[in-house]
Amino acid sequence: MRKPIIAGNWKMHTTRAQARELAAAIVSGCVGLSDRDVLLAPPFTALSQVSREVSGSSIIVAGQNVCWQEQGAFTGEISPAMLFDCGATAVIIGHSERRQLFGEDDKLINRRIHGALAAGLLVVFCIGETLAHREAEKTLDILKSQLHWGLTDLVGDSLASVIIAYEPVWAIGTGKTASSGQAQEVHGFIRAEIGRMYKKEIAENLRILYGGSVKPDNIDDLMAQPDIDGALVGGAALDAESFNRIINFTQQI
Ligand code: 13P
Repeated sequence: MRKPIIAGNWKMHTTRAQARELAAAIVSGCVGLSDRDVLLAPPFTALSQVSREVSGSSIIVAGQNVCWQEQGAFTGEISPAMLFDCGATAVIIGHSERRQLFGEDDKLINRRIHGALAAGLLVVFCIGETLAHREAEKTLDILKSQLHWGLTDLVGDSLASVIIAYEPVWAIGTGKTASSGQAQEVHGFIRAEIGRMYKKEIAENLRILYGGSVKPDNIDDLMAQPDIDGALVGGAALDAESFNRIINFTQQI
C-alpha cells in the first residue's frame, strides 16, 4: 500500500516570520492524520524556522534544490549536509521552474538526484511536459526521456527514497488543472515505464504525485484516481486554510 503524501512547495515566498506562522497553522491542520504524509518545502532561508515549528509532528521538511557536491567552491548552491543541518530530510529536484528559468537540464538533475540519495535525502523528482509538447502529442515521449535521463545509473533499491511528481508545465500557476482522467493516464504511464526500467514491484511501491493548480475543490477527484498518490501544491500551499483542506482530502476506500 502506498501512503499518500501532500507536499507544499512554497517557492520564493515567505519571510522567516511568515513561514513560521504558516507552518504552525499547518501543524494544527494535520493533528491526528496518520494515514498520509505531509511535506513542506519552504525557501532555504526559512528551513530552520519551519523545522523547529513542526518538530514533534510527522511533517517532513524539504529543500527546493540541492547540490551534488558535499562542499566547495559552488557559489549559490546548498549541500545535502546543509539541508540536514537546517532540519530538512527531503528535497525537490528537477522542478520545471529550475529547468525553464535556470537552464537545469536532465544531466544536471541526474547529478543532483545521485548526490541527494547518496546523502540519505528523500527525493521528490519532478517531470512534466510543456503546452507545446502536449499539443504536438509528445507528452509521453518527453516524460519517458525525463525519467530515463533523471534516473540514469540509479539502482532499483534507490527508488525506495524517490517520489515522482508529475507537473504539466501548462497547469502550473495557470489555474488550468489536468483533468483527473488526464492526470491518471499519465500517472499510469509513468508507473508502467518505471516497471519496464526496473521491476513491477518497484513501480507498484513508487509514489507519484500530481502538481499543477491543485486546489481544495479538485483534490478529492485527483486522489480518487488509482495511480495518483498525492499532490505537489504551489499557490494553494501558501494559504493555511486551503492547504489544510487539501491535506484533509477524502480518502476513497
Ligand atoms: P501551483 O499549484 O501554483 O500551480 O504550482 C504547482 C507547482 O509548481 C508545485 O511545485
